[in-house]
Amino acid sequence: MTALPDDFWESRFQGSRTPWERPGINPAFAAWRASGDLAPCRILVPGAGRSPEPAALLADGFDAVALDLADSAVSFQAGRLGAGRSIRADVTAWMPDAPFDAVYDQTCLCALPPALWPAYEAQLRRWLRPGGRLFILFMQAGREGGPPFDCPLPAMRSLFSTWQWPDTLGEGVAHGLGTIEQPAILVRETPPSALPP
Ligand SMILES: C[S@@+](CC[C@H](N)C(=O)[O-])C[C@H]1O[C@@H](n2cnc3c(N)ncnc32)[C@H](O)[C@@H]1O
Repeated sequence: MTALPDDFWESRFQGSRTPWERPGINPAFAAWRASGDLAPCRILVPGAGRSPEPAALLADGFDAVALDLADSAVSFQAGRLGAGRSIRADVTAWMPDAPFDAVYDQTCLCALPPALWPAYEAQLRRWLRPGGRLFILFMQAGREGGPPFDCPLPAMRSLFSTWQWPDTLGEGVAHGLGTIEQPAILVRETPPSALPP
């Protein structure tokens, strides 16, 4: 599959068919905030949907921007963040005026058909400054089809092969849908020319 129908996500918001939505903050997000791994900075939340994390970031002093292509999601986030911080755009095409220090991807990658993953990974590199960090939840759906599309770790290591991975990954986070989200913090590579001598 290379694309979902244009109204796929908006029709789900309008039809109240949003089983991916959690009742509160994602436990992995809370753990990253508590540990200080995720500390105030300029941060993008792509595929933000109606998740509460962008508002939590803003409340905690982050320079937070939410991005989504579904009107309902964009309106929802605009109501909480202010219109200037909620952008309607396709993640595979949008470019910011200035790079971000961090990206928080909570089930955006797994919402995209795998054929779009290389383009999305390239966008993540474009959005982040060198050394910038990607806080991501890799969906372990363990089945064919989607969304959510399965993001097995060997495939993710291949897709994100130019990124710096941690030595070990933390515990997966269970979702009520019966899936597991594998948290990981990846660092965008620094080009050799940008390294100090
Ligand atoms: C599974 S939902 C996750 C929403 C939110 N992150 C959450 O955890 O509740 C995927 C979201 O990505 C958005 N999305 C899907 N494809 C997109 C694209 N190409 N560009 C921007 N947003 C997209 C959808 O509109 C939807 O809000």
